[in-house]
Amino acid sequence: MIVTSDIDEVRRQRWVEPGLTWGFVPTMGYLHAGHLSLVQLSLAGNNRTAVSIYVNPTQFAPTEDLSTYPRNLAGDLALLEEAGVDLVFTPNDAIMYPPGFQTTVSLSQVTQPLEGSSRPTHFAGVATVVAKLFNIVQPTRAYFGQKDAQQTIVLRQMVRDLNFNLEMVIGPTSREPDGLAMSSRNALLSAENRAAAPVVYRALNAAKAAYNAGERSAEVLRQTMRAMISAVPQARIDYVSAADPRTLQELEVVADGVLLSTAVFFGQTRLIDNILIEED
Ligand code: PAJ
Repeated sequence: MIVTSDIDEVRRQRWVEPGLTWGFVPTMGYLHAGHLSLVQLSLAGNNRTAVSIYVNPTQFAPTEDLSTYPRNLAGDLALLEEAGVDLVFTPNDAIMYPPGFQTTVSLSQVTQPLEGSSRPTHFAGVATVVAKLFNIVQPTRAYFGQKDAQQTIVLRQMVRDLNFNLEMVIGPTSREPDGLAMSSRNALLSAENRAAAPVVYRALNAAKAAYNAGERSAEVLRQTMRAMISAVPQARIDYVSAADPRTLQELEVVADGVLLSTAVFFGQTRLIDNILIEED
């Protein structure tokens, strides 16, 4: 496994044998089984697999958890080596954002609601760094998790708008046995908050059950989630949403699929999760 922070070296490796397909899994490290499920999809679907590990500062607001974001590069590399990854790109801020850097990739619509309304600068940071990573790695396919539903929609739109020559593949959300979506941020939860956190997925499932029982009022679905989560004293709701899965606008009536999603604070730690219900 080649581990490098050198952009030219990544490009060299990528084009040694131009006929090979490359899968690419961008990450911020502190890898868990969710990341590794994407790595497995890439390994199974391509001749070579590249992973990037970079905690991208531009997607964190000044008030957010950049400084406490968990890191474990040695552990991450051991997991990737064991999985059979070919190349790991581990840049730093000086490499990704050298002095004089001045370009931002920003999207005008799908970045506005949900995560965007709570984190207005977040997706410009994500889109910019992922555009750079795509240009550096030049993968055949890129792998992202459904866990970050809006991120997948934003990046699909960017790939379409900017004609990136790659295929986007979205992998399902990996969960702990109690349903909590795996996240690097789970490591920041106190024992008490960790015990309370599965309410997020329970609430999403309660709304899904209501949908399956015939409920089509989006407000009733949102209210179902709100009621369950706010019954847990450790939980502080940032938003609950029942939105159009394409535009991410809040729905009144569910007619053509719905993205149920929520962001909830447990202490200082903000967790997100979602369930996508495709059209009937
Ligand atoms: P990070 O949070 O490290 O996640 C890297 C990838 O793993 C993302 O595509 C994310 O959706 C996926 N992932 C996280 N938890 C998952 C889970 N429980 N099940 C399945 N997939 C999961 O997302 C980012 O990093 C960054 O925004 C990045 C795209 C790397 C840009 O900086």
